[in-house]
Amino acid sequence: MQHLVDTLELSDVQITQLLHDAKTFKKQGSARILRDKLLITLFFEASTRTRSSFEVAAKRLGASVVHLDPSKSSTSKGESLEDTFANLCAMQPDGVIIRHSQNNAPRILADMQMTPVINAGAGNYAHPTQALLDLFTLMEHFNGNIKGKTIAIVGDIVSSRVASSAMRLLERMGMHILLVAPKPFMPKSDLPQYEHLEEVLDKVDVIMSLRAQLERHTSPIFDDYATYAKRYCINHERLASRNIIVLHPGPVMRNIDISDAMLEDDRCKVLTQVQNGVYVRMAILKLLLLDS
Ligand code: CP
Repeated sequence: MQHLVDTLELSDVQITQLLHDAKTFKKQGSARILRDKLLITLFFEASTRTRSSFEVAAKRLGASVVHLDPSKSSTSKGESLEDTFANLCAMQPDGVIIRHSQNNAPRILADMQMTPVINAGAGNYAHPTQALLDLFTLMEHFNGNIKGKTIAIVGDIVSSRVASSAMRLLERMGMHILLVAPKPFMPKSDLPQYEHLEEVLDKVDVIMSLRAQLERHTSPIFDDYATYAKRYCINHERLASRNIIVLHPGPVMRNIDISDAMLEDDRCKVLTQVQNGVYVRMAILKLLLLDS
């Protein structure tokens, strides 16, 4: 039984296959190869993109999806995560897709070996399907040649599971990674670190902007979002005519992470990432439910 808790557990061959399958799904559209399969989604944290993307991906492959809303489940009566999961597994789904605030929640459930577990974002450590869709988007843009390209990850890196997963996967794929953040947003890392965005603009091919999760920090770092935006917002003034593409996992805080005008710019790939997310998740479901 194969799970997707972290991209580290995917072999290079599997990553290549995932990218190939996602490209095929994008070119050829739906295929009802999972029509007898049933997935359960279990999101303990809010989601717009990931949950709906998984549902669309599953349905495009002919699978059925049941969503359990933890706030209306017996979790609210004190049932443990493991018991909730075991009870769902007793209904014999073909996989469970989970988002949780704890880094190790998907691992704990995967280790129970009851059904394939897909991590849809856990704590600040891993969001493997986001990393894979970002990889696909980069491969598509650079015609498969991302080795040696440089990406700056900008913003609240320490709080971000997207950043954490991207660092592991994109470095493995041969990209150079620079971290750009104010000190309180910077994680412990051996990667090159910068406090000012202006220092990296002439070194990078890609900027991955992140949402400033000010609510996750105990002590105030900036007086307000406007102060943060002055230093880190991705806008035309900063990028000028540079050939840099801009990624963001969403939700984008307009004019704080990325300016309104920049979001309309062809260099901004935010909605391409969302579109590609469906194809990549179709490929992930195929890998875990059919090929493994
Ligand atoms: N990228 C991402 O995880 O977005 P959601 O929180 O909306 O799922």
